[in-house]
Amino acid sequence: MTIAIGWGKIILLGEHAVVYGYPALAAALDRGVSIAPVPTTKGALRLDIPAWNLAVKADDDHPVARSLAAIVDALDLGRPGVSLVGDAQIPPGAGLGSSAALAVAVARALLSHAKRAAEPAAISAAASASEVLLHGRPSGVDVALAIAGGIGVFRRSAGLRSITCPQLRVLVGPSGEPRSTAAMVERVAEVTNATADDPRLAELGGLTDLGTSALLARDLAALGTAMNRAHIVLADLGVSTPQLDSLCEAARVSGAHGAKLTGAGGGGAVIAIAPRHKETAILAEWRNAGVTGFVATIGART
Ligand code: PMV
Repeated sequence: MTIAIGWGKIILLGEHAVVYGYPALAAALDRGVSIAPVPTTKGALRLDIPAWNLAVKADDDHPVARSLAAIVDALDLGRPGVSLVGDAQIPPGAGLGSSAALAVAVARALLSHAKRAAEPAAISAAASASEVLLHGRPSGVDVALAIAGGIGVFRRSAGLRSITCPQLRVLVGPSGEPRSTAAMVERVAEVTNATADDPRLAELGGLTDLGTSALLARDLAALGTAMNRAHIVLADLGVSTPQLDSLCEAARVSGAHGAKLTGAGGGGAVIAIAPRHKETAILAEWRNAGVTGFVATIGART
């Protein structure tokens, strides 16, 4: 049986600005959501992800059920009798692209069950239909990474431009603070009057360019500096929290090149890049703060 995968992601630089057309530097995690389609003789289209305590039928009154229905409708598959049974290696609602990873894995599993080709355009359209239901007006960066994996620069106008770079280890700290991507996108719209001219959005876009050049040149100190600055600008836009600030500060004090919130903010996760011999100390500081972090490897696979 084919296992369908959608990758989780982190945004290294450019979240929120990407909604307004600026570039974002983003990378798939080495983990996400995987789903096996199990045919059933009788019964409804179901989705079960025990790791998230999630079990819905397509016609339930539940946000994930509505997403499931949107995906199967976008693929024009009716209501196939299949149980989509999945595993998740990323937490839900933590700014790690869990909803897009789920939607992409679901779309792939449904196409595989229907013996249809896994066309990236069809998967993207179906997963985007789910993301619009959940987030209002997503930039599309999560879906693009969940499908393609790897690392790249995403623009709303041009999609994902994959880049090749050596592997990079990134510390990821899911804060456990719940948050809503849609609410955070709305907050940024309020403080910027929803205009791309806001200098803070332009600065975030510029930091993406700087950070991308630094990554390609393997200048991790410069990448870290860009990340630190991006965190300050995001905080100024109102999407950080005292906990996210203090997790980032703890990482910097423990020797990180840079740290910032990742994704929509208002809770969710922080990321840090650090010399390898500093990683243990940073993870220990986060653990003292009640956060179980992990190290993800992004970029080229060996
Ligand atoms: O927190 P996440 O994983 O939903 O990421 C949201 C990224 C934003 O730039 C804030 C929104 C978007 O659609 O790009």
